[in-house]
Amino acid sequence: MGGVGVDAADDDRTPAGAATGVPRPNYGDRSDPGHAARASAFALAAGEYARFRPGYPAEVIAVAVPDDAASVLDLAAGTGKLTGAVVAHLVGSRPDRGAGVRVVAVDPLPEMLAELRRAVVAPVSGPVVEVLTGSAEHIPLPTVVADGVADTAADPAGVDVVLVAQAFHWFDAPAALAEAARISARDGRLVLLWNLEDRRDALVDDVTRLLDTAGRPADADLTEPDGTPRPPYADAPDWTDPDLTVVEWVDHLTAGELIARTQTYSYLIRAEPDVRDRFLVELRDLLDRAVPGSGPLVDRPVEVPMRTLLWSARRRGRSR
Ligand SMILES: C[S@@+](CC[C@H](N)C(=O)[O-])C[C@H]1O[C@@H](n2cnc3c(N)ncnc32)[C@H](O)[C@@H]1O
Repeated sequence: MGGVGVDAADDDRTPAGAATGVPRPNYGDRSDPGHAARASAFALAAGEYARFRPGYPAEVIAVAVPDDAASVLDLAAGTGKLTGAVVAHLVGSRPDRGAGVRVVAVDPLPEMLAELRRAVVAPVSGPVVEVLTGSAEHIPLPTVVADGVADTAADPAGVDVVLVAQAFHWFDAPAALAEAARISARDGRLVLLWNLEDRRDALVDDVTRLLDTAGRPADADLTEPDGTPRPPYADAPDWTDPDLTVVEWVDHLTAGELIARTQTYSYLIRAEPDVRDRFLVELRDLLDRAVPGSGPLVDRPVEVPMRTLLWSARRRGRSR
């Protein structure tokens, strides 16, 4: 598919027959005056975010981080769900246990980074993990001024992989894409990920419809009119060779954890109390009917089918 391999039949990460279009990330709208308030809402629920949001399975990390990466930036790292998975992958998948690899986590919210510091403990002989306050529009790393040459001795090569999980929709996209290019190595990769609940599942669809009534922003349609996938960086001059992978997996949790997870969504954190209360009553009612089991609802097991969307692009070469 011209470098774009969504749900490709030869992609054994995606079961055959699952090719029913490009999953739609829940994007939001930057022109909406509430957008900035929602972007910072995570600060009010950082602990709950760390506890209840889904992580990223090893299969996803294996797609996102090439084995030979020497430096990885987790941009909008939040509580470190992806950072921790990247560190574990580097330690587990390399003979040198990731020794010497540099992993940098950047986020604007100190509350999220406090959780990250708690959760992501670099092993003594593993990758070096640095935590920096900053944003996608102002990444606190040096400029790579020409192929393989930086303007400081601190980072002579630039970053090999920039990861953005569940966050690109919060960014000023053109500014963020230019910033990622500024600090990236020659042939460096930019990988945008979204963990999406699979709406082909009836329970997921019902819960999503209920979330719609509580202010869930519209899903992004990342397709061309003919149905082919459109990368989120379609017009960015610095990024090329877009490639899409969808990894399917199942999240196992309890109904109580699923309910708590909804309370980490930015629009629900910022919702009026009566909207949030009504939503919670209706969600409990829905789950009580849909999730089998005789014990207390909160303890009943739930399987949530997930589709992780990974859009990957390569930094175009630059000249002096
Ligand atoms: C939904 S969380 C994702 C966190 C983490 N990447 C994960 O997968 O769990 C979104 C994160 O984006 C961060 N964020 C929002 N606007 C940002 C911006 N302009 N630049 C960098 N990060 C931003 C928030 O602080 C928050 O931690």
